[in-house]
Amino acid sequence: MSETTGPRTERVDFRATSDPALLDSADRGEAHLLGYGELYSLWERQHWAVQDLDFTQDKLDWHERFDEEERFARMYGLSAFFIGEQRVAAELGPLMRAAPQEDMRLFLCTQIADEARHVAFFDRFYSEVDVLGVEGLEEKLAATSEHLNPEFGVLFDEMLKSRVDRLATEPEDLETLVEAITIYHMVIEGMLALTGQHFIIDYNEREGTLPGFVEGFINVARDEHRHVAFGARFLRDMARSDPRHVAAIQRTLGEIAPVAEGVLKPKWAPDDDDFEIFGISVTETRAFAFRALERRMKVIGLVAAA
Ligand SMILES: [Fe+2]
Ligand SMILES: [Fe+2]
Repeated sequence: MSETTGPRTERVDFRATSDPALLDSADRGEAHLLGYGELYSLWERQHWAVQDLDFTQDKLDWHERFDEEERFARMYGLSAFFIGEQRVAAELGPLMRAAPQEDMRLFLCTQIADEARHVAFFDRFYSEVDVLGVEGLEEKLAATSEHLNPEFGVLFDEMLKSRVDRLATEPEDLETLVEAITIYHMVIEGMLALTGQHFIIDYNEREGTLPGFVEGFINVARDEHRHVAFGARFLRDMARSDPRHVAAIQRTLGEIAPVAEGVLKPKWAPDDDDFEIFGISVTETRAFAFRALERRMKVIGLVAAA
């Protein structure tokens, strides 16, 4: 299948990342995960530039095709992604420094650059399309933050940040690094970001809207699959090296699961699992997110393979 035809999850460039969520074999616990050096090389081959995107049609769609209600729903749906990218870009430095091998650190340096590009992508989209009517990245982030639900704050500003703060002062604490990668790569990127990206891209492709945004967001998703593939490789290596790391991954997933579920729900309908955003119910969204997590966990060796 070519890179641009067929279902997006079957794209050659997505599958090239070795993210287990994209591989049927992962249901049997089987996946050839790329090594850290291979993931670095793939990063060099998968570059893209925010400045190359054209948002001319997006601006027309936003202001002339969407009504007030649709503009709000779309802006709300994107807010967690914009702020999420800013948070992960800001928090990754201590994880990179704490990684125990040089080849791991090299890859994580590339990921810091990717997360910066993702923030720049949202910054430019919001400016060119004039989503919020405010200028400046700080002002946009402040205006966007108003739309986040409380679980988002718990996940990023408590659960992730507490681990990152500890790694900043105790970089040799490998168990905390395992917990941080579980939260960052498996839950925030793997379960939440990639799930939302999948359904938002699908929705826009079906509706024929926001072509510049879709082009950029597909590139963001490809980067995220590469990041998650690093996380799966790292956690598999750690799990095989020490059973205490297996316990750390399981403990962290148990702690974070209810919070992650909360992040998937809209602020104004937290108890309505049939509520739809971008044409997909909370129930369907959750099923997609957990299926991806299960495939990755099977490959890491934490869930018995089918
Ligand atoms: Fe990102
Ligand atoms: Fe990422």
